[in-house]
Amino acid sequence: MDVAKLKIIQYPDPRLKKKSKPVVNFDPDLAALAQRMFELMREEEGVGLAAPQVGVNLRLFVMNHTGQPEDDRVVINPVLTALDGELENEEGCLSIPGVRVNVLRADQMKLEAVNLAGETFEREANDLESRVWQHETDHLDGILLIDRMSFTEKMRFRKKLKELEGKFKA
Ligand code: CO
Repeated sequence: MDVAKLKIIQYPDPRLKKKSKPVVNFDPDLAALAQRMFELMREEEGVGLAAPQVGVNLRLFVMNHTGQPEDDRVVINPVLTALDGELENEEGCLSIPGVRVNVLRADQMKLEAVNLAGETFEREANDLESRVWQHETDHLDGILLIDRMSFTEKMRFRKKLKELEGKFKA
C-alpha cells in the first residue's frame, strides 16, 4: 500500500458503507497508514479519521480531540462498553463536507482497544472524547452521520447531499 496516495473519500462512496475487518497484522505498514491518516486529519482540521474514510476497510481510527500532541491516539479494534448518560452536540464528518448536525449520543463510556504495538489499552471518557469514539466506531461499521440524521435534518441538507452525490458520479 502506497500510503502517500491515500486521500479522504467522500459520501456517497460505497467503501464508506462497508463493515470493516479487525486488524490482525501489527506491521510497519499499519504504522505508516496511521501516520498518513494523522496528516490527512490535520490538513482538514478534523478531530478524528477512520481507515474506511481513506478507502481502507480495517477497524482502525486516529484521533486528537484537544489539538495537543500528547493526545494523538491510534485506536485499533475498538469496543465501547459501560455506556451511560446522553448528550446532544454538533458533529461534522470529513467525508461529508458542509454538513453539521446535532447528534444525540451516549456521554460516558469505556473504550477497550489495541495500539500500534498490538498492546491492549483501556480509557474512560465523556463529552467530546467519547463522541469521537462513537463517531469513528460508527465508520468502522459502515454507519455515517447521515444515518444518524433526523428526517428534518436530511431535508435541511438535501441540496448539499445531492451536490455530493452528483460530484461522485461525475
Ligand atoms: Co466521520
